[in-house]
Amino acid sequence: MASIPRSALRRTALWLSIFLVAGLLAAVGLTGWAFARAKVSTAGAPFTDELAIPPLATGRLDPDGTRVFDLDMRSGTRRFLPGQDTPTWGFNGDHLGPTLRAHRGERVRVDIGNRLPEASTVHWHGMHLPASADGGPHQMIAPGATWSPEWTVDQPAATLWYHPHPHGATESHVRRGLAGMFLVDDDIATGLPGSYGVDDLPLIVQDVKFRGGSFDNGRGAFADTGILGDRTMVNGTLAPYRTVDDELVRLRLLNAASARIFTFGFAGDRTFDLIGTDGGLLERPIPADRIRLSPGERAEIVVRMRPAERLTLRALPTDLGDGFWNRRFSGGDDTFDVLELRAAETLRATTVVPPRLAPPELPRAEDSVRERTMELRFPNINGAPMSMDRVDATVERGTTETWIVRNSDGMAHNFHVHDVQFAVAAVDDRPPPPALRGRKDTVLLPPGGSMRLVLRFDGPADPRHPYMYHCHLLWHEDQGMMGQFTVVEPGTRVPSAPMPSGHEH
Ligand code: C2O
Ligand code: CU
Ligand code: CU
Repeated sequence: MASIPRSALRRTALWLSIFLVAGLLAAVGLTGWAFARAKVSTAGAPFTDELAIPPLATGRLDPDGTRVFDLDMRSGTRRFLPGQDTPTWGFNGDHLGPTLRAHRGERVRVDIGNRLPEASTVHWHGMHLPASADGGPHQMIAPGATWSPEWTVDQPAATLWYHPHPHGATESHVRRGLAGMFLVDDDIATGLPGSYGVDDLPLIVQDVKFRGGSFDNGRGAFADTGILGDRTMVNGTLAPYRTVDDELVRLRLLNAASARIFTFGFAGDRTFDLIGTDGGLLERPIPADRIRLSPGERAEIVVRMRPAERLTLRALPTDLGDGFWNRRFSGGDDTFDVLELRAAETLRATTVVPPRLAPPELPRAEDSVRERTMELRFPNINGAPMSMDRVDATVERGTTETWIVRNSDGMAHNFHVHDVQFAVAAVDDRPPPPALRGRKDTVLLPPGGSMRLVLRFDGPADPRHPYMYHCHLLWHEDQGMMGQFTVVEPGTRVPSAPMPSGHEH
């Protein structure tokens, strides 16, 4: 056997180690670069554009008293950046959609036409309604088709919203611009600011990133939470300001971002009153200086303005206890100046925030007849990815259940349930903080966190149409972090037939 000269061996070893060290250094350098680049801030950036207010749609009344709305899903363009037209999708326009508004007790119908090049759906997030009208992934609307769900509004006044829900494509449909608010009113006179677009402002908050003139839909390095933007927009307005003429201003905050968790507060730590959560008003206002909203969640707050001041609504860094690495790559170190409120020289005086708002309509833990566990671990819930033809839970109409939701992952998730507004009975086995004591349909679960949710299923029984529960970080939802449940009459034997997954036109 010919032996390799020693010097040649030594040379090879030397080169090998040089390559290894260089590769290691490059990897470390790239990672450091990605780490540094992942942090973004728009703090201090000027507010240059007047905040758009989505048009209010009150629909028309049919002879039989049904309130009818029209929604057209279409593609278009919107000029966000100077000289560049961004391809967008919207309802009745190029981007986002009108604010629908209806009263408790009313029969409503929405005639939805799909003029997009793709099939989609429209889901009523937070609405209590029959499963066949819910607009989940089974109610696809083909291009050119229309869908006309109808239901009777039967829930307290609340800030709800609507958005597409096609299985596997929700993220891209929402981020292209398909989202709008749905306000429910009721008969309770609260005395709260309530003049739409004047002292009662809808705020659809999203983060966005541009690549040239288009929305950038790329997921950043190590961004396990999904697609994050590097700036925010409100109602589709980048760098928005709004002039207000009233002392008390009510803000209806909706986190319509696809993955970003916002911790809202005002510059200077101005306190405000939290008056409502996802599903309606609280019993009493809660003084606060921060409100954290994960994707899909809403909060209503009232802030007191001083004459001639400029007050910045800010999104502050969010520490979910997920460690410096995850925090950085899930946007937890970021800061955004979201909106500037510009107060007039003289303000219309409003006396006080009413001390009593609305009686809570919450399910009670003592009525619970059954427990279920929901384990969140990307990309699954309870170890299985979403399947359109598997029903994961069957609940009996009129019963109350306790769902124990656990995040056993190293990253944040949230949890949303269709059709119901639930009560949070415990967070990590302790009583919930004040901001989680109202009606909720979506909750944030930091890594390792758990919650006990109490849900009451009052909807009509319909074994053929499922509702969804899922992580509302939309890319996670699309990857399979979703499950289905049906509501059946008490004592019904669970049908073993798979779900009909046909299109309904
Ligand atoms: Cu906001 Cu299942 O959705
Ligand atoms: Cu929903
Ligand atoms: Cu998730």
